[in-house]
Amino acid sequence: MAKYLITGGAGFIGSTIANTLLAQGQTVVVVDDLSMGQVQNLNQSDQLHFLKHSITDHDFINDLLDQEKFDYILLVGAVASVADSIAEPGRTHAVNAEANFNILEHLRKEKLPLKNLLFISSAAVYGNLAGVPKNELSPVEPATQYAVDKYSTERNVINYHNLYGMPTVAVRLFNIYGPKQNPKSPYSGVLSIITDCLMNDKSFKQFGDGEQVRDFTYVTDVVNCILALLEDSRALGEVVNIGTGQKATLNEVITIIEDITGHKLKKDVLPERKGDIKYSYGDPSKLNDLGLVAKVDLKTGLRKYWEYL
Ligand code: UD1
Repeated sequence: MAKYLITGGAGFIGSTIANTLLAQGQTVVVVDDLSMGQVQNLNQSDQLHFLKHSITDHDFINDLLDQEKFDYILLVGAVASVADSIAEPGRTHAVNAEANFNILEHLRKEKLPLKNLLFISSAAVYGNLAGVPKNELSPVEPATQYAVDKYSTERNVINYHNLYGMPTVAVRLFNIYGPKQNPKSPYSGVLSIITDCLMNDKSFKQFGDGEQVRDFTYVTDVVNCILALLEDSRALGEVVNIGTGQKATLNEVITIIEDITGHKLKKDVLPERKGDIKYSYGDPSKLNDLGLVAKVDLKTGLRKYWEYL
């Protein structure tokens, strides 16, 4: 059994990873400031150590790394919303770039042993450049602080492998949805906001004409791929898209949810959101070549999500 550090481990994706590892009997240390995450997302276990703390406290994190000697580190903690990063670029940079750089540098300087480190990057790095689906060799154009920080950390993570031999991998996630996604902020993932509006008879604020395209990927698919990549030496020093390769417009998704729930979504249509990407969907060939696939289709995933709610 191994010891894992998960930053942001009380959040939507981090807690799903943590609970999966705990079910395997692994030891998991979670550092989360609970700005978006919730302790209740984490299953109780003697193998879980929860630390309510910000990853921007470098001294705290460095002491923890020195004491615990983690086998695996998962850098999940982030300001997770593109729109949030536009409202708060300074905080975004401190969390999404500086905190992660501090961890890489401390591991390097102290020569701390490590089996693997995985960074959660984002499809947002591709930006609005023409040409979809995006593969890992597609040009990038990070157009928000969120995307810039995801891209710079991704490059650092890969460079620390290439230059210093650190075992690392970075994944570019597309739009993830499923149980435990927190709908309580205007910056939450759109599917959690839509289902929250339906459940509470609220009006959904739709930014733009609803024809924006996304690759919505179910959270357990993502977690299974992440945990498999951590163990795959072929993925060391690589950037890998994790998505289904299937595209859907917001309008299409709303129709599917309305069919599943039998409710009509009330909408206010507002202008497009600044920094929004129009067409975002990926080519998952590299993931598939590693024997991994995000296989839950949108209708199945949305039905599962609705049953959970
Ligand atoms: C999402 C993720 C981000 C990830 C990126 C990768 C969230 C909050 N953001 O960004 O972490 O890196 O995918 O591709 O999960 N919308 C509305 N009304 C709303 C909210 C959103 O119309 O109330 C629209 C947005 O304008 C956007 C689309 O829905 O066009 C998706 O928005 P959102 O869920 O915030 O995700 P992304 O910006 O795609």
